[in-house]
Amino acid sequence: MTNPFLFEYTSQRKLLLVVNLWIILCEIMNDNDLYEAIFKRKSIRNYDSTKFDQNRLEEISKGLAGLKPLSEGIKTEFKIISPDQVTRKTLNKAPHYIAAFSEAKGAYKANIGFMLQQMDLYFSATGLGSCWLGIPQPTKEVRESSNLEFIILMSFGNSSETIYRTGVSQFKRKPLSEITNIEGADELLEPARLAPSAVNLQNWYFTGDKNLIHAYSSKSSFFRNIIGGGYFPVNMGIAIYHLQLAAQHLGWKAKMVFEEGLDKNPPKDREYITSLKIEKP
Ligand SMILES: Cc1cc2nc3c(=O)[nH]c(=O)nc-3n(C[C@H](O)[C@H](O)[C@H](O)COP(=O)(O)O)c2cc1C
Repeated sequence: MTNPFLFEYTSQRKLLLVVNLWIILCEIMNDNDLYEAIFKRKSIRNYDSTKFDQNRLEEISKGLAGLKPLSEGIKTEFKIISPDQVTRKTLNKAPHYIAAFSEAKGAYKANIGFMLQQMDLYFSATGLGSCWLGIPQPTKEVRESSNLEFIILMSFGNSSETIYRTGVSQFKRKPLSEITNIEGADELLEPARLAPSAVNLQNWYFTGDKNLIHAYSSKSSFFRNIIGGGYFPVNMGIAIYHLQLAAQHLGWKAKMVFEEGLDKNPPKDREYITSLKIEKP
């Protein structure tokens, strides 16, 4: 005679398996959508002023709560704020902004770049506009509402202009030959090349080989900081996220490793950030 408990147990397991598979499928679909967005996204600066309803904002808050970090163990906080909580008056207003805060520890600015770029691609993939904002600032009240350091804003909302580029040629970017000397890893480095950066500075350089990619940034300096160089680390986090997402899209892993010694002897005018070990199954 069949054991009824056994039947219940196996059907529960089957249900669990189906639910797990569904979750995995959703994640893969999401990541694929994010990957596709790399090749068509653009910064959006003109918005329809209509605010989102509470459900939509909660969905976005859930997205923020689920962002993957570049470095574990750094406290971060993301707040959705309104235009009256942003000080720059000349700004083309967006209906909503994300204010990003972080504990000042390790590669914390690159970590914010890595995390918030997931939202930039998410907004683009779901038909919304967004733009990283290094110049506008949140009000004093918003800054003081967190124990963490304020890092940057990102605007988002329904766009009043077309949100997609129709081809890679529409991106104003340096050619691959200016950002890397690695051969045979274009499928990873092209997505990094297309990453957005403050004042479009594209301060990244990749060396090594197709299995171990070392990421360097241009060095910051007083003069460079005046024209956006203060965001070099954020830009690095953004490009590294594109690279890692591309690896994931190919079914590979890009594991972050810090190669001792590379930080002590970087090429002229460059600063070592991290390396990505590419693992293929
Ligand atoms: C860290 C960071 C800060 C930025 N700050 C501003 C800003 O204050 N105002 C603005 O209009 N765009 C800002 N941008 C958007 C860049 O100008 C834009 O990403 C770059 O020119 C490339 O264009 P694209 O995003 O349309 O590809 C910023 C981008 C990044 C990554």
